[in-house]
Amino acid sequence: MLPLRVILTYAEKQLASGPHPERARWDAELLLYHALGRDRAWLLAHTNHGIEVKQGERYDALLARRATGEPIQYITGETEFYGLPFRVTPDVLIPRPETEHLVEKALELASNFPAPRIVDIGTGSGAIAVALAHHLPNAQIAAIDLSHSALAIARENAKCNDAAIRFLEGDLLAPVAGEHFDFVVSNPPYVPNADRASLSVEIREYEPALALFAGDDGLEVYRRLIPAAFDAIIPGGFLILEIGYGQSPAIAMLLARYGFEQIDFVPDLQGIPRVACAQRP
Ligand SMILES: C[S@@+](CC[C@H](N)C(=O)[O-])C[C@H]1O[C@@H](n2cnc3c(N)ncnc32)[C@H](O)[C@@H]1O
Repeated sequence: MLPLRVILTYAEKQLASGPHPERARWDAELLLYHALGRDRAWLLAHTNHGIEVKQGERYDALLARRATGEPIQYITGETEFYGLPFRVTPDVLIPRPETEHLVEKALELASNFPAPRIVDIGTGSGAIAVALAHHLPNAQIAAIDLSHSALAIARENAKCNDAAIRFLEGDLLAPVAGEHFDFVVSNPPYVPNADRASLSVEIREYEPALALFAGDDGLEVYRRLIPAAFDAIIPGGFLILEIGYGQSPAIAMLLARYGFEQIDFVPDLQGIPRVACAQRP
């Protein structure tokens, strides 16, 4: 039987010819933990162990998927967001670290509301809604998505994180027409259609198009969401949006056009405006 350290070296070589050679070693290790049902500490202590045939076959299959560019998170079916575990499938966008800035801003503002009413538009895996529910036990949270299959995953994530969330299927705020909220939060699709070719293979070929693209300039969803959110937010309430690279001037203009005030942008770790925040007067 080949020892694990040799198997890992072969695996690393295989992944080095795939789309992400710089992550080959890391990915090979992660997939090996997954195939063996073990963690890093175990692997470090057992590098001379061999693996059973069935485990070897399972590992080969995982490596083959990764070598074509499939995201690790879809292969393992799990990821972490805001310190919480999430199940992910190709029906949902893999939650990104940048989106944690949105959660942080919402938590900061919601701390001034005793029982905030919040709606998350385009909930996907449920990442934002579940993270908010986890930290705001008194909040009433609704989460909406156009995708039936994404909502099934979001429901699972709410259940395994003990989050009480009302999930609804439909377009933007239509499923909660007539209701009012202290917060509308959203990480909507914002990639311009023309940018498709420049996306990495992991995003372009594996993540759901419905979660990514928003017309020629990437602003199509914001153009409908911002006025609809203004009507749904109570005076003094907030709209908090994740935005794409270079979109802050257009978003500031849209927010002001529909009556929002106190328009502010939170930068991400690279200093890029990533989250737009505005108040309904
Ligand atoms: C960028 S993903 C965000 C997912 C998740 N909130 C996150 O931050 O990881 C956008 C989500 O919006 C959903 N979506 C797209 N258009 C929509 C619409 N018109 N109404 C409701 N949801 C929509 C997509 O299905 C997708 O789940």
